[in-house]
Amino acid sequence: MTQIFAHRGYSAAYAENTMSAFIAAEKAGADGLELDVQLTKDDEVVVIHDEKVDRTTSGNGFVKNLTFKEIRKFNANKKSVKKEPIPSLIEVLEWMQTNQLICNIELKNGLFPYEGMEEKVIQLVRKYELCDRIIISSFNHYSIVLSYRTAPEIATAPLYNERIYMPWVYAQSIRAKGIHPKLASLSDEIIKGAIENGVAVRPYTVNKDADMHRLYKINCTSIITDDPVKALKIKKQYEKRP
Ligand code: G3P
Ligand code: CA
Repeated sequence: MTQIFAHRGYSAAYAENTMSAFIAAEKAGADGLELDVQLTKDDEVVVIHDEKVDRTTSGNGFVKNLTFKEIRKFNANKKSVKKEPIPSLIEVLEWMQTNQLICNIELKNGLFPYEGMEEKVIQLVRKYELCDRIIISSFNHYSIVLSYRTAPEIATAPLYNERIYMPWVYAQSIRAKGIHPKLASLSDEIIKGAIENGVAVRPYTVNKDADMHRLYKINCTSIITDDPVKALKIKKQYEKRP
């Protein structure tokens, strides 16, 4: 049955990419998380979507120009009275020792290459013995290939927005075990073709009821959604069927 990945955590109800959003996704019963990582000035892998801290935190400036100590002073939970810092990837991986979640780590290295980020992420994933519960994705497909070459034991998946022809052939050519297409670029034929060829399909971002119904009916591998609670509620209707 289709797995549910909470996009930036349970971001429909909690501040995106915060420990609160990840913990809430796990409590809701999501199968996995999707989160974004960037590198600080002193090479710490931190969990934040934008290259700048401005939109999601109380601070300002580029992540790459701030040290981990500086960045941790900002509040990443502007949605609540409870302040909390931008998580480090270490914090998330440590917490994953207490549950069975899968985690899709999106390397946000499309704008800035963050040289060495792949190795740093892989070193941490190996240290916490989570290779079989991690999927590395990126819009930067050179980074996907580098990740695979560095750690063939960790699943990878290219992110993309366009209607690629037979994307499973492309995925196989870069040794990726899955594809993470934008939902709008995804036909039923592509979903079926990829799955029949052993390539997992995890579209983003699936928030509408009708899209969830469609993807559950066709038994899409996973959906990436802001609202795992709604996704689970709708999924239950399909699980009851014989
Ligand atoms: O990983 C799927 C999705 O998160 C990619 O787009 O901008 O939400 O990181 P974005
Ligand atoms: Ca993302």
